[in-house]
Amino acid sequence: MKLVNVGICGLGTVGSGTVNVIVRNHEEITARTGCDIRIAQIGARRNRQNCDLDGIPVTKDVFEVADNPDVHILVELIGGTSVAKELVERAIANGKHVVTANKALIAQHGNELFRKANEKGVSIGFEAAVAGGIPIIRTLREGLSANRIEWLAGIINGTGNFILTEMRDKGRAFEDVLKEAQALGYAEADPTFDVEGIDAAHKLVILAALAFGMPLQFDKVFTEGIRNISPVDVSYAGELGYRIKHLGIARKHDNGVELRVHPTLIPERRLIANVDGVSNAVVIKGDAVGPTLYYGPGAGSEPTASAVISDIMDISRTLNVDQDVRAPYLGTRFEQLKEFPILPIDDVKTSYYLRMSVVDKPGVLSKITQILSDAGISIEALIQKQPWQGETEVPVILLTNRVRESHMNEAIQQIEQLDSIHHKVVKIRVESLS
Ligand code: HSE
Repeated sequence: MKLVNVGICGLGTVGSGTVNVIVRNHEEITARTGCDIRIAQIGARRNRQNCDLDGIPVTKDVFEVADNPDVHILVELIGGTSVAKELVERAIANGKHVVTANKALIAQHGNELFRKANEKGVSIGFEAAVAGGIPIIRTLREGLSANRIEWLAGIINGTGNFILTEMRDKGRAFEDVLKEAQALGYAEADPTFDVEGIDAAHKLVILAALAFGMPLQFDKVFTEGIRNISPVDVSYAGELGYRIKHLGIARKHDNGVELRVHPTLIPERRLIANVDGVSNAVVIKGDAVGPTLYYGPGAGSEPTASAVISDIMDISRTLNVDQDVRAPYLGTRFEQLKEFPILPIDDVKTSYYLRMSVVDKPGVLSKITQILSDAGISIEALIQKQPWQGETEVPVILLTNRVRESHMNEAIQQIEQLDSIHHKVVKIRVESLS
């Protein structure tokens, strides 16, 4: 039986899960690959208590693993983009295959790393980089590869979804839920990546590159986080029959591709609107298959290890296979990747949820509706609350039809200039996902 030696770098949440599952499921992994997959070396600055290393040699220097001639597959689980990039480059230069869970590394440096790997004839597996345990990379690259993908939309940051769910269900404060997500090991080392949408943007560019056969373009994603979502918006959205989810959306048009990450109102009857907690879900619309939904744990030790090990197994099976018959890194052969323009957010068309606080006096609402109607924006739903005793302002909540973002922003500017509006208008995009 073919022996495959794996070198694991990083022994944090995902690294320790990977060691545990490889050891525990050795029999199944062997039966399914026909290879004896062994952990030959671990590179980590410190050992985890919850991981039995049972005689596996550990070095504090991860580059020793990249230089170890016995290692066939280097697994990069240290995170970040500096040491991790150097490590992956060293492994590729040494002719090793690489598996990584590092979405930032792939999103920002994938184009360059895939080229280097291609030149050396080695694979880079990154199933664990997006949506944790959900096999979404393989779904796009292989399962749906007969389709033209029209659009995809996903809840691809578990921490953000956990925060929004706890705010809605238990009325908990933002910071309090974030601390819990950190303690559970879901949040990034720098949690602003989760709450500002950067982590979701990393994942979205990877999905979009695979979906549309284009190079990774992280710097072009429009990104808005969840920090400004307030509990009242979650509650008004509910009254209107919607849930607020933080979505990554990629949509192909004749003139380019939309790439955007932002809080979004989704009709509560959609399955994806009911994906709660740390779970992730991605809807992919293919021209042949129609809309499909993938759901599961988007983070965590063993769910992410499950994806990491699936890549190790896949590479093990193809160790002796010619590079030309392996699935290409981004699903499409290098020479056929297309540089689609990324559409500016101003040109994107969606519906909008608007919340404004207006002075309670006659004629205010008609001025607001006049501005919207002059801009060709129609109102699909409206809530106006009675003023609380002693209050002079009342909340007005509107849902609009689909309009171009730049038109919406111009109308909002005019509304904010009215005497009876003293605060900024809250704007959240709405998607029907149909
Ligand atoms: N911080 C990420 C999340 C981890 O919460 O989804 C998985 O990529």
